[in-house]
Amino acid sequence: MKKNLFGFGLAAILSAGLLVGCGGADDSTDEGADNGQASEESVTLTMGTSADYPPFEYIDTASGDEIIGFDIDIADHIAAELGFEYTIEDMEFNGLVEAVRTNRVDFVIAGMTPDDDRRENVDFSDIYYEGQQMIVTLNDSGFESIEDLDGKKVGVQLGSIQEAEAESIEGAIVEQRDTIPQLIQELRNGQIDAVVLEDTVANRYFERQDVLTGFMMPVSEEAGYAIAFPKESELTEQFNEVIAEMKEDGTLDELILKWFGADEE
Ligand code: ARG
Repeated sequence: MKKNLFGFGLAAILSAGLLVGCGGADDSTDEGADNGQASEESVTLTMGTSADYPPFEYIDTASGDEIIGFDIDIADHIAAELGFEYTIEDMEFNGLVEAVRTNRVDFVIAGMTPDDDRRENVDFSDIYYEGQQMIVTLNDSGFESIEDLDGKKVGVQLGSIQEAEAESIEGAIVEQRDTIPQLIQELRNGQIDAVVLEDTVANRYFERQDVLTGFMMPVSEEAGYAIAFPKESELTEQFNEVIAEMKEDGTLDELILKWFGADEE
């Protein structure tokens, strides 16, 4: 079932600048029979992300400079269901909450975990995926448990929930960096000793870089992933309806298989 964003009053919350004009001569579809005046208009939303998080959102340099990934497929599906177009604003993870809070973007999808601090500034959709915390190290480091990281430099992405995870490691010296590739690079160079990373992202790195290994953090909480919206955005509920449908009709499972399937073998 296609829902029409205009039917939900979205137009009211969009600035005129976001509205794309009538399709003019393009009469190729007659879907809008029930709602003639809106049928040929399309809304363009701005989505914020931090494309440094394979396989959720990243630039596959081998195939171009397009941002792809699990989260992008979810955004595409929701956009198709709700009938909007969107453009992507790629920025550092640490700036995303502020970009949503100040309405610079209409929503953020970036493997983001709702927590109390963030909830003070933005609203979140329902959870669409769960991650867990891992410690990523070099194969030959000999680190096998959290106790081995006493006095070691543990890297995390600036502004991520991994900051608190790393701080919980007894004796660890927490090092913050802007992006995940930067952390992996410094780990490989020996500038830091370990990185706290969510399991699906870590597994992706293990598959591609044999020098890396890791272990689960013993007492980490499940990190749910959700989409962030400006407070009181009408999009939250509409996105939630589609997320619920995606869970029920198998779309989400298909995407999990498509993007993370290899990990389970
Ligand atoms: N789930 C973690 C958080 O919310 C990490 C997300 C990092 N995402 C990214 N695109 N770099 O803090």
